[in-house]
Amino acid sequence: MSHHRLDRLVSATRRTIKSGLEDPSADAPLLERALTALDTAEASSSHEDSKRVEASDWVRSALDFAGPSPASELAAAIADAANNLSWTVPYLDYDEPDIVSLRNDYLVATLVGTDARSSAHLHSDVASIFFSVQRPNVFYPSHVHKAAEIYYPVAGTAMWTKGAESPTPQTPGTWINHPTGTCHAMETLTEPLLCLAIWTTDLSSIPVIVRA
Ligand SMILES: [Fe+2]
Repeated sequence: MSHHRLDRLVSATRRTIKSGLEDPSADAPLLERALTALDTAEASSSHEDSKRVEASDWVRSALDFAGPSPASELAAAIADAANNLSWTVPYLDYDEPDIVSLRNDYLVATLVGTDARSSAHLHSDVASIFFSVQRPNVFYPSHVHKAAEIYYPVAGTAMWTKGAESPTPQTPGTWINHPTGTCHAMETLTEPLLCLAIWTTDLSSIPVIVRA
């Protein structure tokens, strides 16, 4: 990726995470950890572009649903870099119909990750930072992982389910915490969903779909 696009994306990501430090609903120590990861990340030596999936149309379609600044700024930076990010398809080892279908409708790109993620553009063992895009009218079933996770919808209002709570609409610019081992599901309605996601613990844990 061009240095300019990557720099712009890193800067917009940093500003967004910093804005979360002012938000009482966000987990400040975990966001500080994400900032440390971003500020100390190095170019990944294991980065592979070969598995790249095209996502720029999906990301551009989400721009109309971006939240207020800094979400709108981050949405624009992701769209600018979308052609150069290594978008990957999740759950390749699942063959249930809904997960096979999800693989057509959900992509994730790793900005900062451990060496275990060959799609990561920058390397860190402190925290992992991702972008996800989910097309409209798609149900991402309940799943769980050991990693503590923070989501920040950048564009698109979708239904979020955490643990045993009932589904709740979450608008762009909201910080959503998934502590270690919390089941979560996301359902898009008419709008696509573009997110920033951060893992701050157990960076090599693996998401598992949870069937009721
Ligand atoms: Fe998750």
